Amino acid sequence: MRVLVTGARGQVGHELLRRAPDGFMVSGLGSTDLDVGDAVQVEAIIERLRPQLIINAAAYTAVDKAESEPEQAYRVNRDGVAHLARTAAAADIPVLHISTDYVFSGDAEQPYRETDSTSPSGVYGASKLAGEQALAELNPRHLILRTSWVFGAHGHNFVKTMLRLGRERDSLGVVADQRGGPTPAASIADALWQLAALYRDHGNLQWGVYHFSGVPSCTWHDFAMEIFRQAVDLGLLERLPQVDAIATSDYPTPARRPAWSVLDCSRLVAVHGIAQPDWHDELRSVLQELVGA
Ligand SMILES: NC(=O)c1ccc[n+]([C@@H]2O[C@H](COP(=O)([O-])OP(=O)(O)OC[C@H]3O[C@@H](n4cnc5c(N)ncnc54)[C@H](OP(=O)(O)O)[C@@H]3O)[C@@H](O)[C@H]2O)c1
Repeated sequence: MRVLVTGARGQVGHELLRRAPDGFMVSGLGSTDLDVGDAVQVEAIIERLRPQLIINAAAYTAVDKAESEPEQAYRVNRDGVAHLARTAAAADIPVLHISTDYVFSGDAEQPYRETDSTSPSGVYGASKLAGEQALAELNPRHLILRTSWVFGAHGHNFVKTMLRLGRERDSLGVVADQRGGPTPAASIADALWQLAALYRDHGNLQWGVYHFSGVPSCTWHDFAMEIFRQAVDLGLLERLPQVDAIATSDYPTPARRPAWSVLDCSRLVAVHGIAQPDWHDELRSVLQELVGA
């Protein structure tokens, strides 16, 4: 099966390319090969490559910067998705798409289900929600995988920021009143390939919105503590820094962060048999990869 992966140089895109199972012929295009915000380019590439499935890992992901440049965020996260969805639908190609916990307000106290009402509090979340809506409207054969707190050995993420700060400082403050599910980019890629294989083998899939994130849920402070513990264990850091638990209000950012980002992922298990990954195990694999880097 011919598969087009967009955003191929991002965290998830990178893992999609290196974890593609046998039986898929993958064309992975980064933003310089295919700008999804350019409708003419999208049409030309799809016409030339004639993919049988598209996995969209391209996104504008700079959450804080999006507040001051909303046009760029919407150009990629809404318009880019719409261009892919429309062109794919015309050629009868399904689209697997990645979205985010930021479509929710973050005010809940129970894990978010796919049917819960959305209410993003910032530009990034609003632009991602607009992308979900465009995809649903323009291409009935779509699957949206909402995830959270993505980390991997490749690209920018919280794990790498913590490792850098752990080397530079003896102590640091990390937010302890936001809770979510750290999710390995590799696990997201594996889940998407499992879905792609189900589609290939059955010629169909139960389309729609699904949640997928790592377990157990934790706070950023818990996550940082585990990163440092494992990093010392693996010799990536010489000593444990002091990690103070701080409040969101102590760390102001241009975009408001959701206090509650926990996703209920039972639908993906029930419908497609794809279980939530344990992020502790995957964190070790990522850190081991960084030891060798
Ligand atoms: N990171 C998280 O914590 C997180 C959490 C929840 C959901 N998600 C979602 O997960 C998905 C993957 O995120 P990620 O963490 O892999 O993000 P990432 O590392 O920032 O990768 C996104 C990729 O999209 C590319 N891109 C940007 N504008 C583009 C355009 N106009 N055309 C084509 N490609 C473009 C970027 O290329 P350049 O680098 O060249 O600009 C980048 O390689 C996204 O849909 C994101 O919204 C991420």
